[in-house]
Amino acid sequence: MLNADQRAIIKATVPLLESGGEALTTHFYKMMLSEYPEVRPLFNQAHQASGDQPRALANGVLMYARHIDQLEQLGGLVGQIINKHVALQILPEHYPIVGSCLLRAIEEVLGKDIATPAVIEAWGAAYGQLADILIGAEENLYQQKEAAEGGWRGTREFRLVRREQESSEIVSFYFAPVDGKPVLMAEPGQYIGLKLNIDGAEQRRNYSLSALCDGKEYRISVKREAGGKVSNYLHDQLQVGDTLQLFPPAGDFTLAASAKPLVLISGGVGITPTLAMLQAALHTGRQVHFIHCARNGAVHAFRDWIDGLAARHPQLKRFYCYAEADGGAADAVGVLSEDLLAEWLPRERDVDAYFLGPKGFMAAVKRQLKGLGVPEQQSRYEFFGPAAALE
Ligand SMILES: Cc1cc2nc3c(=O)[nH]c(=O)nc-3n(C[C@H](O)[C@H](O)[C@H](O)COP(=O)(O)OP(=O)(O)OC[C@H]3O[C@@H](n4cnc5c(N)ncnc54)[C@H](O)[C@@H]3O)c2cc1C
Ligand code: HEM
Repeated sequence: MLNADQRAIIKATVPLLESGGEALTTHFYKMMLSEYPEVRPLFNQAHQASGDQPRALANGVLMYARHIDQLEQLGGLVGQIINKHVALQILPEHYPIVGSCLLRAIEEVLGKDIATPAVIEAWGAAYGQLADILIGAEENLYQQKEAAEGGWRGTREFRLVRREQESSEIVSFYFAPVDGKPVLMAEPGQYIGLKLNIDGAEQRRNYSLSALCDGKEYRISVKREAGGKVSNYLHDQLQVGDTLQLFPPAGDFTLAASAKPLVLISGGVGITPTLAMLQAALHTGRQVHFIHCARNGAVHAFRDWIDGLAARHPQLKRFYCYAEADGGAADAVGVLSEDLLAEWLPRERDVDAYFLGPKGFMAAVKRQLKGLGVPEQQSRYEFFGPAAALE
């Protein structure tokens, strides 16, 4: 527990974090990843190169400092972090490494005149408090996943049992456990962690489950990323019969129980979690508006499957928007505008909306849903990478 002086010091450093938090976390990651090779495989190097992960951590630290007097107001942030940590198997022994590097980074970036021994001590105590919260919450999740039917802890060996080409750039992979036992029933919208060894180096990545879980196997659908290590490995090298290690499903972007009309909006490969949500919603008889944006028909995955569902389930309405004119194959051409969305949403705007896609797309959708009167707390989204501000 922090004392009043320490809390005052943390609050006084908020302006420094607002202006220099990203420089601090960038320095922190460089130091930690070069000095501690044991934690390097946990991190996606592309998220370091783009600055997305240093930005996400800087935002996390800033939010924590701002709410140091009322930690309960951190709300969704803690849930988002612990789910990401659990899906990548972050463990208690990793925390002291992060703690010592963070304190050194504070000292080195701010300089000893600002980062006095009292400031370092206060941040040491604050880090310890946050680490305890996260470690405790993560242990709870690990235990829940281990105790549940079909659950496990750590890695479990799975075999690729099927692969299907879904579009020119997306392939689905079906994994069944080698032990032949049931798998944990993931909630629609959750993702799993893959642990792979590619060219002698360990890689971990998250992939959303793209089909409702049947308790026997998991499906993911992966877009080939130009220059991407794991997606290209999966597309080009992973063959039916090969095995790999999976961490149990996690994630808090899940379909909440509700009878309101459901609106699912996706761009590109962001379609994956919405497929599992769609399947779950159709079981309940709920009205669903499924809106998908793609570059053109060649890259548009799962179209036939969605069309088939729409033909069988009158409560499902589907709308496609292509960036490129493609022989009239889409309902609209161009970008998803507020006017289009106004046409495609249910007339009654008291809906539950879930959306995912590239960041610019999501920022626009968030703004448009708000503009069209969808209550903000009923508009939910996820990132295929570190969280970012959608302004
Ligand atoms: C919760 C969650 C769910 C996800 N679900 C899905 C899903 O359902 N389907 C899906 O396809 N993806 C999904 N992703 C994204 C997925 O985890 C991977 O990030 C994606 O497949 C790219 O990984 P990769 O190894 O192929 O590419 P990476 O090797 O990570 O590279 C990504 C890009 O960065 C570039 N790059 C890499 N390293 C550097 C560097 N050092 N400097 C500069 N540029 C660099 C690469 O050239 C490439 O363009 C999800 C992510 C999250 C967090
Ligand atoms: C108090 C301590 C910590 C805080 C506040 C913190 C915060 C965060 C935040 C905000 C994210 C981004 C979440 C998202 O947007 O999805 C994240 C992701 C992550 N964290 Fe932590 N974290 C802490 C400790 C640790 C530790 C000890 C490790 C292990 C060494 C770790 C490893 C990771 C990894 C691997 C990711 C995903 C990175 C990526 O996508 O490249 N974190 N963390």
